[in-house]
Amino acid sequence: MVGAGYVGLVTSACFADLGNRVICIDIDADRIAALQRGRIPIFEPGLDEMVERNASAQRLAFTTDYGAGVAGAEFVFIAVGTPSGAAGEADMRYSEAAARSIAQSATGPLTIVNKSTMPIGAGDTITNIVRQELSEPYPFHVVCNPEFLREGSAIGDFFNPDRIVLGANDREAAERVADLYRPLGAPMLITDMRTAEMVKYASNAFLAAKISFINEIAGICERLGADVTQVAQGMGYDRRIGRSFLDAGLGYGGSCFPKDVRALEYMASIHGSHPQLLRAVMEINRDVRRSVIQKLRGVFGGLDGQVVGVLGLAFKPNTDDLRDAPSLEIVHLLQTEGATVRAFDPAAMDHAKRTLSNVYFASDPYDMARGCDAIVLVTEWNEFKELDMARVADVMRSRVLLDGRNIYDPDEMARRGFRYIGMGREDRHADLPVDLHVGDSAMSRTG
Ligand SMILES: NC(=O)c1ccc[n+]([C@@H]2O[C@H](COP(=O)([O-])OP(=O)(O)OC[C@H]3O[C@@H](n4cnc5c(N)ncnc54)[C@H](O)[C@@H]3O)[C@@H](O)[C@H]2O)c1
Repeated sequence: MVGAGYVGLVTSACFADLGNRVICIDIDADRIAALQRGRIPIFEPGLDEMVERNASAQRLAFTTDYGAGVAGAEFVFIAVGTPSGAAGEADMRYSEAAARSIAQSATGPLTIVNKSTMPIGAGDTITNIVRQELSEPYPFHVVCNPEFLREGSAIGDFFNPDRIVLGANDREAAERVADLYRPLGAPMLITDMRTAEMVKYASNAFLAAKISFINEIAGICERLGADVTQVAQGMGYDRRIGRSFLDAGLGYGGSCFPKDVRALEYMASIHGSHPQLLRAVMEINRDVRRSVIQKLRGVFGGLDGQVVGVLGLAFKPNTDDLRDAPSLEIVHLLQTEGATVRAFDPAAMDHAKRTLSNVYFASDPYDMARGCDAIVLVTEWNEFKELDMARVADVMRSRVLLDGRNIYDPDEMARRGFRYIGMGREDRHADLPVDLHVGDSAMSRTG
């Protein structure tokens, strides 16, 4: 397994748990050293126990040495990052480097499995690189095997996948990889390489589109006095639509949806297609993050001098991943508007301290709430649903609650004295008196 990140590490541990011998290679020496000492560099429920069990059973090992990892291997999975490039394209630098290193270290026939999300046509690119770099003309095949696991439930997703997709120009090579997954009993789809590559992009783009669709509906609901949470419920009972990914809120983020929609839009546009829907999906997602500023400005007039608590930083619950998290942009926007930001997240604080500046990182939600004029709930961690809101209200300066994921009951929050603002819900309590702290400059700006 090349790459010991969210995908590579989880997939290594799970394949080892199925009884395979797995060697996980990464160029990040600190990461590998930590793993060799039994320290898991990412937050993923259940992963530390599974890594430890399989490492002790000698089925799972970690190395920075391609020679040690690739020599004698039947399969080599590529699970390195494919971040956004400058124009939105998928940056293939890491995958291409991995392919070169694999080829240079091969000692016999090999099946290379592209598990990273690579652009359509990348299978051919990897094939050409390996052909050029092999020290001996060993037979080899490249198979595309897109990954659909979700951070936060990655182990469960590995063992209970909705489907396994394999793309190859050689059916037998795809069948060999399929055999690795047979114990899972999941439906399998074997296609040509490009089709499998497209299944991944189309799936992520569709899920992102569902989120942006409901966020667009939410914006309309706010203006017309409907409640989007019930609209989504009413829509979701329809099996043709389904309830999942219809939660209005502050939009999608993370290491996959934003970059994959961008990369698909890029591929489409440079090949003469006109991907209007993908562009709208991205635009709605950008606007919904900015709506935080607009909503708070609607309450305070301006944000200069206001203290805002950001509750939840990770791009979604149960992960410490901050890549393209809505929180990052929201904190930046708040600071740009002159607000002082306090923040708390149950898992992502260490990453956030390295990424964000001029933020007070609180020890818990109550510490975060102290002196705040408004709280913006950005990530819907379960533990935030159970907060003692009376205690939160007690320590705030003004009680404004912007529930960016609609996890609180508007009436209950109003009873607790909050000015509650949801996403796509009518602002029914806008006229209730709330003791607002309005800073001097905000006052002067609004007259
Ligand atoms: N994170 C997810 O939830 C998820 C889900 C599905 C698909 N994917 C896709 O899987 C791929 C990996 O994503 P991730 O989140 O695991 O990335 P990640 O950044 O967490 O991990 C990538 C790892 O690869 C290592 N690496 C980079 N270049 C290398 C090289 N040449 N040789 C060896 N190691 C190298 C890095 O040091 C890093 O540890 C991406 O293409 C992503 O789009 C991710």
